[in-house]
Amino acid sequence: MIKLAPSILSADFSKLGEEIEMLDRSSCDLIHFDVMDGHFVPNLTIGPMVINAVRSRTKKPFDVHLMMDNPMSLIDLYIDAGADIITIHPEVIFHLHRAVHHIKSRNISVGIALNPSTPLETLSYILQDIDMVLLMTVNPGFGGQVFISAMLDKIKALKTKIIEMGLNIDIEVDGGIHAGNIREIVRAGANVIVAGSAIFNSANPTTIIDDMRSEAFSEYKKVFR
Ligand code: DX5
Ligand code: ZN
Repeated sequence: MIKLAPSILSADFSKLGEEIEMLDRSSCDLIHFDVMDGHFVPNLTIGPMVINAVRSRTKKPFDVHLMMDNPMSLIDLYIDAGADIITIHPEVIFHLHRAVHHIKSRNISVGIALNPSTPLETLSYILQDIDMVLLMTVNPGFGGQVFISAMLDKIKALKTKIIEMGLNIDIEVDGGIHAGNIREIVRAGANVIVAGSAIFNSANPTTIIDDMRSEAFSEYKKVFR
């Protein structure tokens, strides 16, 4: 089923608590936190204390995307702060299987995020252990970038693989997504949609969230019902 996950990367950080309350009132399904360390990606965003600070403002699941070197060093702090889903990048982890199973041992959902050029084969011996694959559809680090259209084939290939293996895994996509391209992205097989600038740069974020969800749901019903 479709889940819309607004990314707070483009939110107004001078009033983050109010922004989270706005999302709580909206029809969004998850709230996506882009954690960046200035090493793995050329930007620096939020630590566990920020997640902890807004945790009480909503009951909606916190979808925490760790774009950081050596994520295992801080992963428990993000989980303790209130993460419901933790997504990690294999590009910066030596022992991916161990990391996935540590997250699972904390009884939260686990995702693996792949940068645009990272092949799907990276998932070969871990796909059946995870809850979600996040396919980056821009080069990570900043919001407001353009969707890399070559990622449509990657989404399709992953969807085919998941169906072939009879698995029930979410395909999340992140970067450059808006009401104008969401249908073709859902048609390709994605069901969890991250959007930051399309939502927060608009005059009425909750309306954009409603519009994106209804576009995605109607396409999903057409293709996968
Ligand atoms: C990149 C970030 C962005 C963000 C979404 O590292 O992960 O993709 O979530 O940004 P928009 O929706 O503004 O492209
Ligand atoms: Zn993200």
